[in-house]
Amino acid sequence: MVTVQRVRAGILPCLLLAASTLAAAQSPSDVEQGRRLYDGMCVTCHGFDGAGGEAPSLSRPMSHTDETLKSIIGNGIPNRGMPRVRRFTDNEVLQLVSYVRSLGRVASVSLPGNAERGGEVYRRQGCTSCHMVNGNGSSLGPELTGIGALRAPQHLKQALADPGAVLPRGTLPIPARAYFEYLPVLVVTEDGREVRGMRINEDTFTIQLRDAGNRFHTFRKSNLRRIEKETGKSLMPSYRDRLTAAETDDLVAYLSSLRGAK
Ligand code: HEC
Ligand code: HEC
Repeated sequence: MVTVQRVRAGILPCLLLAASTLAAAQSPSDVEQGRRLYDGMCVTCHGFDGAGGEAPSLSRPMSHTDETLKSIIGNGIPNRGMPRVRRFTDNEVLQLVSYVRSLGRVASVSLPGNAERGGEVYRRQGCTSCHMVNGNGSSLGPELTGIGALRAPQHLKQALADPGAVLPRGTLPIPARAYFEYLPVLVVTEDGREVRGMRINEDTFTIQLRDAGNRFHTFRKSNLRRIEKETGKSLMPSYRDRLTAAETDDLVAYLSSLRGAK
C-alpha cells in the first residue's frame, strides 16, 4: 500500500499529463474529483487505490475504450456483481474514468520483483500441488491463470503471508464467492470419524467437502455429530517464514503477470 502511494506521488505530474491527452474534457482536477467519488462509492468492492478485494483490482492497465469504461461505470455489468451504483452525471462518469485510468498507470510501475524468477519460486515451492495455471497443476485451491487481473499486488502478497485473512469475512455487502467455496470445515461423523476439507457446496440437508488430498466427500447432515466452520482460516499454509523478501517480491511479480482467461 505504502509503496504504491509513494510511487503515485512521484509520477503524478506525468500521469496527469497523459490523462489530459485522453479526452478533451479531462484535467488534473477530474482525477481528483474522480477519486472522491470512487472513495465514496466504489471502495467497498474494489478497495482503496483500486487494490481489489471482493471485486477485481482496478490498479492495472485496462484494454477497454473510454466508451466501454463509461458504460461499465454508468450502467454496471448486469448479473456479474458490478452494480449500477447510482445515476451519475456525464461529468461525474468522466471523472471516474479519469481516476480509474490513473490507477492502471500507477500499478504497472510499482512492482519490485522479477516475474521470471518468481515463476521458478512458484514451481520450487510446490504451489502447483494446489493451484492450476494454464491447465497445469492441481485444482485444490483457486485457479490462478487470471489472478493478476483479479487481485492487486499487495493483496497477493498478503495472500501468501496470511492466507484466509485476505478473504472478506462478512464485512462487505456481498461476500466474495471464493470465501464461501474455500471455507475450511471439520466434520465428525456419528461413528467418530473426522474429515477436514474445504466446503464445495452446502444446503439444508447435505454438505460437500474436498480434503487436502483432493478427495471429494459428501455427507448428510443428519448423519454428522459435529460441523465446525473454521472462519478466517485457510488450507493454504502461510509462506511468511518460507520465503525471503526477494523471493516474495519475485513471486508477487509472477502472479501479477498471470492475466489469462478467468
Ligand atoms: C457491489 C460491488 C461493486 C461496486 C460497489 C462497484 N463495483 Fe465495479 N465491479 C464489480 C465486479 C464484481 C466487477 C467484475 C464484473 C465482471 O467482469 O465479471 C466489476 C467491474 C468493474 C470494472 C471493469 C473491470 C474490468 O477489468 O473489466 C470497472 C471499470 C469498475 N467495476 C468500476 C467501478 C466503479 C468506478 C465503481 C464505483 C462507481 C464500481 N465499480 C463499483 C463490483 C463492484
Ligand atoms: C495445500 C494447498 C495449497 C498450497 C500448497 C498453496 N495454496 Fe494457495 N490457496 C490454497 C487455497 C485452499 C486457497 C483459497 C483460500 C485462501 O485464499 O486462503 C488459496 C489461495 C491462494 C491465493 C489467493 C487467491 C485469490 O483468489 O485471492 C493465492 C494468490 C495463492 N493461493 C497463491 C499460492 C502460491 C503462490 C503458492 C505457493 C507459494 C500457494 N498458493 C500454495 C491452497 C494452497
